[in-house]
Amino acid sequence: MTTFSENVSLKPFNTFGIEAKASQFQVFSSIPELQDLLNSVGASPLLILGGGSNLLLTQDFKGYVLKNELKGISVIKEDEDHVFVEVQAGENWHEFVLHAIANDWAGIENLSLIPGTVGAAPMQNIGAYGIEIKEVFDSLKAVEIATGEVHTFNKEACQFGYRESVFKKSLKGKYVIASVVFRLNKTPQFNTSYGAIQETLQEMGVTGLSIKAVSDAVIKIRQSKLPDPNEIGNAGSFFKNPEVEKIDFEGLKAEFPSIPGYQLPENKVKIPAAWLIEQAGWKGKTFGQIGVHKNQPLVLVNYGQGKGADLRDLAFKIRTSVTQKFGIELTPEVNII
Ligand code: FAD
Ligand code: EPU
Repeated sequence: MTTFSENVSLKPFNTFGIEAKASQFQVFSSIPELQDLLNSVGASPLLILGGGSNLLLTQDFKGYVLKNELKGISVIKEDEDHVFVEVQAGENWHEFVLHAIANDWAGIENLSLIPGTVGAAPMQNIGAYGIEIKEVFDSLKAVEIATGEVHTFNKEACQFGYRESVFKKSLKGKYVIASVVFRLNKTPQFNTSYGAIQETLQEMGVTGLSIKAVSDAVIKIRQSKLPDPNEIGNAGSFFKNPEVEKIDFEGLKAEFPSIPGYQLPENKVKIPAAWLIEQAGWKGKTFGQIGVHKNQPLVLVNYGQGKGADLRDLAFKIRTSVTQKFGIELTPEVNII
């Protein structure tokens, strides 16, 4: 018989630092344990919790919260160029990146310092500094919530896109990701073209490029740009960067000549949401215990006692004002619960 803790505060388990209570709470550290818990949950509301770094809790969770603590990293096969590493979903993402670097496994160094668990990484195909995990992804195992069966998904089945996967779309709420296999490179293919990586490597006095040096540079840039959730509650970028048709971008450029845009395939242009939010007048604005970060307006913050519902309302006000000014609808990246 599985027992649950009742009325558990989720404040320590979400990086926004929002106070919200779970009616029922339990951790799992093996697949049989998870299958057992899922049996007890039945058709009640269920929240699978990783590191809580991409969540906004807007109210108490009247249902079951299951926290993933599946641990373990193992090499399952190798070929001349690659090593295939299976990582259990409850491992911390950044610690896995550091483990890979220590073992000379290349391919995820640009994804250093992203908070959260390995199991949540495929949910939104985490990305930063020119890399997304789909580039090193081999497969994953996931437990079907309705049946407890373990299914394997290859890359195609995951339908990865920009901050997207099948687990956020048609299979939303249907699976718990239990482990991920990454195909890492024995010989690094450095990607230093994005943002300030090269400049930062120079500042750091790096002469011979290494995956450790790239990781250190990415960490330095991230620390200078993004607030540390241990100091100020946040969940990284609140919205995705919108993608518009090239022809619409040209129209916007005529009206707003300084609008930045990055050309994508298929005649699309990505516009930084941070720029849109700053132009709409929100950068650095504070409203009691919550606000818009002073250096990175795409990041909403909780100064300590903020409420999730107030952050959600602020996000929707920002979205409305951006739509009114630019005719562009922002889509939240953070999972609003
Ligand atoms: P949670 O917040 O715990 O969960 C996120 C969602 O996934 C929830 O819906 C949850 O129910 C579901 N979920 C979690 N684990 C599982 C599982 N095992 N199976 C099924 N569903 C699951 N993201 C980027 O892509 N790039 C960045 O550069 C980046 N920078 C960030 C910087 C900061 C300071 C912060 C706070 C966040 C940042 N993020 C970034 C967002 C976040 O780190 C990622 O989305 C991360 O993958 C979330 O992991 P988590 O374990 O904390 O997920
Ligand atoms: N900008 C402004 N004003 C600002 C800050 C930024 O106008 O105050 C504009 C500038 O044009 C700048 C551009 O926004 O060039 C991009 O800013 P930044 O490099 O900080 O990146 P971002 O687009 O805001 C994205 C990801 C981050 C990821 C970084 C680095 C999304 C939604 N966000 O942020 O991911 O770490 O690039 O690759 O794609 C996350 O997903 O949570 C996250 C933090």
